[in-house]
Amino acid sequence: MKNNNKIILNSTSRNGENVGEAHKAWLRYPPLDPNQAKEYASWCGEIVVIASEPSPMIANACEELVNGIGSMLGTTPRVGGSGNLPRYLRIAAGDLAELQGAVETAELEELGEEGYVLKTVREPGRAYIAIAGRTDRGAFYGAFHFLRLMQSGHSLDDLRVIERPAAKLRMINQWDNMDGSIERGYAGRSIFYRKGKFVTDRKRIRDYARMMAAVGLNAITINNVNVHETETNLITPELLPSVAAMADIFRDYGVRLYLSVNFASPISCGGLTTADPLDPEVRRFWADRVADVYRHVPDFGGFLVKADSEFRPGPFTYGRDHADGANMLAEALRPYGGILIWRCFVYDCLQDWRDRKTDRARAAYDHFRPLDGKFADNVILQIKNGPIDFQIREPTSPLFGGMQHTNQVLELQITQEYTGQQKHLCFLVPQWKEILDFDTYARGEGSTVSKAATGELFGRQLGGIAAVSNIGDDLNWTGHLLAQANYYGYGRLAWRPELTAEEIADEWARITFGHDPVVVTTIRRMLLDSWNIYENYTSPLGVGWMVNPGHHYGPNVDGYEYSKWGTYHYADCHGIGVDRTVKTGTGYTGQYHDKVAARFDAIESCPDELLLFFHHVPYTHLLKSGKTVIQHIYDTHFEGAEQADTQVDAWRGLQGRIDSDRYASVLDRLQEQSMHAKEWRDVVNTYFLRKSGIADEQGRTIY
Ligand code: GCU
Repeated sequence: MKNNNKIILNSTSRNGENVGEAHKAWLRYPPLDPNQAKEYASWCGEIVVIASEPSPMIANACEELVNGIGSMLGTTPRVGGSGNLPRYLRIAAGDLAELQGAVETAELEELGEEGYVLKTVREPGRAYIAIAGRTDRGAFYGAFHFLRLMQSGHSLDDLRVIERPAAKLRMINQWDNMDGSIERGYAGRSIFYRKGKFVTDRKRIRDYARMMAAVGLNAITINNVNVHETETNLITPELLPSVAAMADIFRDYGVRLYLSVNFASPISCGGLTTADPLDPEVRRFWADRVADVYRHVPDFGGFLVKADSEFRPGPFTYGRDHADGANMLAEALRPYGGILIWRCFVYDCLQDWRDRKTDRARAAYDHFRPLDGKFADNVILQIKNGPIDFQIREPTSPLFGGMQHTNQVLELQITQEYTGQQKHLCFLVPQWKEILDFDTYARGEGSTVSKAATGELFGRQLGGIAAVSNIGDDLNWTGHLLAQANYYGYGRLAWRPELTAEEIADEWARITFGHDPVVVTTIRRMLLDSWNIYENYTSPLGVGWMVNPGHHYGPNVDGYEYSKWGTYHYADCHGIGVDRTVKTGTGYTGQYHDKVAARFDAIESCPDELLLFFHHVPYTHLLKSGKTVIQHIYDTHFEGAEQADTQVDAWRGLQGRIDSDRYASVLDRLQEQSMHAKEWRDVVNTYFLRKSGIADEQGRTIY
């Protein structure tokens, strides 16, 4: 099969330089052990392609198979044979008739647009492994699954895998700016832009598209939700050809391109004096811009909008509401099948810290719940996982169970803004699992966030998951090499939310570092322990914040206590925490469905880890663990700092078992984490000793 596009044969070089193993991320395909390789080789001599028409995605699937298999087995399969070998691979897409024999018709029906079947088919005298989808996209994802099976040492003799993604939209939000900076980016500069322009060397972007495809992601916004002056022009004729060039790269890897847009564009780049969503001139402006966008990018995905949030313009200026704003843009996109994604991260960011009635946690629900049912059917609301802002621990947003007549998308943050900024190890998959599995009780027991976000719970056509990217132009993509696991894990969960954190950690460790059991067990353990460890030495019991203002790195217990951002812990000499109960507090708990509301509202049933999010308690309050709040704070901070040291020791045990570059780069980060964890421990413990005047039961050093 011929592919018109330039194919990457390996990802080891960028501008001729050797970028090392870390750059290849989960597309390394290192040589397998000879026995395993021999067994696989018997299947992989030839790839037969059965597709109703040539397609770049099938070509790319073949290219991935050829390169991946070649690299793992040392022998390269021949593409385009006719199945004369006794065993071969058969990649099939499109025409249902072609797939007969490989899969039952009923199974085919279930595959949808993106699903696939991997099946070992035995016929008299020959056998083949079918990698089959109803569409080229399905077969393409199947090829990556097949490679994953080989990477993780799975037997191919009796395959029978049928998969389709849980979420339709599996999106990445890049918070990249055209000056090359990345908002909350911790892995270098943007891979898309430099000095106000698109980069000209696009090889890295293509590598990135491959990485996205390999974990099943299918959508990307390529610019920051805070759309500044230059990026406002991305929808103008001047920049659209470059946007189109980006879309061309991603398209062949199954990823659809979206843009974040500035709600005030009609003023900023349309010469109008208003951005009022009900103004006919404004509507015409957007209709024209959208038409132009689709002229350049016929399969353009749509817009993402942050409006009336943290000083970004929006419909409030004109006395209109979010539905007016979103629906106006959705109308412009509708003729082309485009989608309008509107963020719910809306709150009063000019709050007076003395005002105890306003509660930032309530804001999203208070703004959007009354509008449920008023949004057009090509609008999706993008809801952050928690009601505040990506803290180490927050309850799940009540909006997921609250918006029953509106499409919704869950927003996660892969970039570790509040979770150690990719200097600390913090594997976020266990946190995301809790969010996805959270039961809203919106339709009785089992009404999980995962079902709400995918649309299944409320019978919505559109839905999915979006996440803020953690990649930049660092050679290993994510700064901390082990932070690659967060990106990988996000993609895998968006495809299959029922995967466990253990499965994902194991799979990533094997794919990234090979099958040495000591390596796999150690890394899996390190990843799985890391969220808990980070929580231990940072802000306790769900209260959040306690970070340095602005950049959000490092401890500062009162950093956000007297600010305008609605982020308070209310610690005094008696106690700490925010009363969000219905009777005596802000009433936030009342935004959940009864069963959940009751659990959080009563101090007796509120889970320890969220106690201070929902309740203000004395330091001597007894937790379910049997400890007082103050002793819990001391103990977890001493323990967390020790655990950070243990992570360093665990990693040291891998010296000589993994290549020295990757070994050294991770060791460096873990050592910084261990030092910094002690800083956290001492700042937090000292603060609370001085506030409470209550000594540590164990008499450890607190300053
Ligand atoms: C956080 C983050 C900002 C970001 C915002 C958002 O507040 O600190 O940098 O712009 O979230 O999600 O829009």
